[in-house]
Amino acid sequence: KLIVSDLDVKGKKVLVRVDFNVPIKDGVIGDDNRIVAALPTIKYIIENGGKAILLSHLGRVKSDDDKKELSLKPVAERLSELLKKPVTFVPANEGKEVEDAVAKMQDGDVAVLENTRFQDIDNDFGKRESKNDPKLGEYWASLGDMYVNDAFGTAHRSHASNVGIAEAMKKDGKPVAAGFLMEKEIKFLGDAVANPVHPFVTILGGAKVSDKIDVITNLIPKSDHILIGGGMAYTFLAAQGHEIGKSLFEPDKVDLAKKLLQDADGKIVLPVDNVAATEFSNDAARKVVEDDIPENMMGLDIGPKTVAKFKDVLKDAKTVVWNGPMGAFEMSNFAEGTLEVGKALADLTDATTIIGGGDSTAAAKQLGIAPKITHISTGGGASLQYLEGKELPGIACISDK
Ligand code: 3PG
Repeated sequence: KLIVSDLDVKGKKVLVRVDFNVPIKDGVIGDDNRIVAALPTIKYIIENGGKAILLSHLGRVKSDDDKKELSLKPVAERLSELLKKPVTFVPANEGKEVEDAVAKMQDGDVAVLENTRFQDIDNDFGKRESKNDPKLGEYWASLGDMYVNDAFGTAHRSHASNVGIAEAMKKDGKPVAAGFLMEKEIKFLGDAVANPVHPFVTILGGAKVSDKIDVITNLIPKSDHILIGGGMAYTFLAAQGHEIGKSLFEPDKVDLAKKLLQDADGKIVLPVDNVAATEFSNDAARKVVEDDIPENMMGLDIGPKTVAKFKDVLKDAKTVVWNGPMGAFEMSNFAEGTLEVGKALADLTDATTIIGGGDSTAAAKQLGIAPKITHISTGGGASLQYLEGKELPGIACISDK
């Protein structure tokens, strides 16, 4: 696979698919992580005399009413601030306005086209972008000389603006390559996990077992230890015969949990104590319980003994992947377990530490430990599917095969 630095971008129109799907409320960007993460690729292109034409989706566009809130204009403005240079925002992604704007670009210029998912409602085809209308990919490919995919967060989707455009470019004999962010995500979530330096510890949390089954299955053979916390831990504890009170529970996953425990052959480490509360509220009466959780209570965080146990496993780790919070960490009284796991990762100075998923990333930010983590993924669904060992269409389309 080529990467952007393999391309001769000088004087070239470079179509770049980025994932600028950032949280925006009333035109204000909540978290610009994904924009910042795309900067190395954009800077490389413009500093080497290329013209960067950026494509991205934003949110899910279902009707005309969504268009105001889901315009990429504020993103283009934020990008301009970050690059400290003008960025042209084109309020369309197809037609004369786009072609004129591209024709006007000088070497080193940056343009952001409007939300690719506006194509999901603006036509007779149906969802042209999300259903990958080949004509749309061909059209976008026709705007440039080469294509760079830096949208790892979108790599689990097979849409016109990532897969369609790459295929059309290849058909035209034009080069396609990965951006630097895409390359970094592949290096850590892909390669480091496929061939980890041992001991390799996987930490999984979040509400549901069903969301993580394929990740567990894929990582059991590769991991030395799998630490499980969060809501999903209670189905595992129930499978072991513990009373879990009113905790989150997926009865139809008990047999599967039993099987996973068996397959893992002692590698799965479950909570030995929990912070339990009478209801799902930060103000609820709470206490640390060992063994069984009383009938009228629910487990909302891992307890101090579990934290100590997890830390003990982590201290020798050479590779760690963490996905999902250890409890209801959005409530301060149940955040400790998640925050302590984050701190333990930050303390591992000679291990490769990888965080994926929105909640664990938010916890890392809240703790201010992001600079001490080797890699924090920009992918949500994409990082999960990658950890499941699946081939992602947005990566396959820029591979040589
Ligand atoms: C994400 O945020 O996970 C990606 O940008 C993909 O967005 P989607 O789930 O709306 O396709």
